[in-house]
Formats: sequence, structure tokens, C-alpha cells
Amino acid sequence: MTTPAKVAVLISGRGSNMQTLAAHQGDAYEIVVVASDKPTAPGLSWAIANGLPTFALSPKGVGKPAYEASLDAALREAGAEWIALAGYMRLLSDDFVAKWRGRIVNIHPSLLPKYKGLETHARAIAAGDAVAGCSVHLVTEELDGGEVLGQAEVPVLPDDTPEALAARVLEAEHALYPRVLREVVTR
Ligand code: GRF
Repeated sequence: MTTPAKVAVLISGRGSNMQTLAAHQGDAYEIVVVASDKPTAPGLSWAIANGLPTFALSPKGVGKPAYEASLDAALREAGAEWIALAGYMRLLSDDFVAKWRGRIVNIHPSLLPKYKGLETHARAIAAGDAVAGCSVHLVTEELDGGEVLGQAEVPVLPDDTPEALAARVLEAEHALYPRVLREVVTR
């Protein structure tokens, strides 16, 4: 029997995707650390309350290179083999991405390659799209540009607001991310 892949989850906020990844730990993967660039992130409190090892450090004050060096050390110390970004709102440097090449995945709330970056739901509505969704992709140096590993679609409804669409897409994210993470760590 193979051992589960060791995954670090990086968050900046509420961490609902982290929670769904945690709920689906098992034979394929286990979460060895939850790391946040925001020491006050609500998701971090949830991780602590639920017994997950955590690491919190803000780049403010220390600067990006020192921050990333500490993050990298903490992830390796925890034994992480993969990094799953889950609402992590900071761009990782090219150096950091190179160190973990092919081992960082992200969930993005659009059907990539459409709507890279922010405000994805408002942009989908403004464009008159009938379908929106989310993507899990490998992280490369190009923003939201790596190989797409899996996608889920949801309808855009008449009179949708960005908030209503975001909630619908988030539900799809919660179903998609654990499935695709399981697939990629075992492929
Ligand atoms: C999700 O919509 C995710 O796609 C995006 O940021 C949001 C994070 O939500 N990258 P949560 O922190 O997982 O609840």
C-alpha cells in the first residue's frame, strides 16, 4: 500500500476550500500543514481548532524573500511534497515556484483560460456568459496559466449578481478540488 501524499495547504482567508480538502483526506493525501500569510485568517483558527499543524507569517516587515524562505523551510520541515493553494492571495515568486515545480496546484473561480486574475464573476456576468465555473490548475510563473487539471461548470442565471454566482461556483469548487487533488497526487 502506498502512503498518502503529504500536502501543505496555503490560505489567506476563510479557508472553505481548505476545510473541504481536510474533510477528504485519506489514502490519497494527507494535510501536513496549513500555512497562511495572514496570521488573523479565519481559516487558520479553524485549522488550529481542528488539530491541523499550522504556520503563520506575514511578509510585512520581513520582506518577500525572507518570508518565502521561512515558508519554504516550514513546508519542508512539515514533510510537504505538494502545495495546494486555497484562497492564497499572494503571488509566489518565480524562484519559489521553480523549487516546487509541478507540485503546486491552485483553485481558480473561472473556466480558465477565461478570466485570469480577480473579479472573475463580475467579468463573466458582464460578458453575458451562460456558463461559469472553476478550474484546478498547476501553478507556473504565469498567473493562473499552468496546465488545467480539472474544471466544473455552473450556469449563470438571469439577474445573477457576482455574489450569487460566487456562491454557486464555490459549491462546485468544494466538489472539484478534493477530487482533482486526489487524482494529481496519484497520477
Ligand atoms: C475561492 O473562490 C477560490 O477559488 C479563490 O479564492 C476563494 C477562496 O475561498 N482562489 P476560500 O478561502 O477557500 O473559502
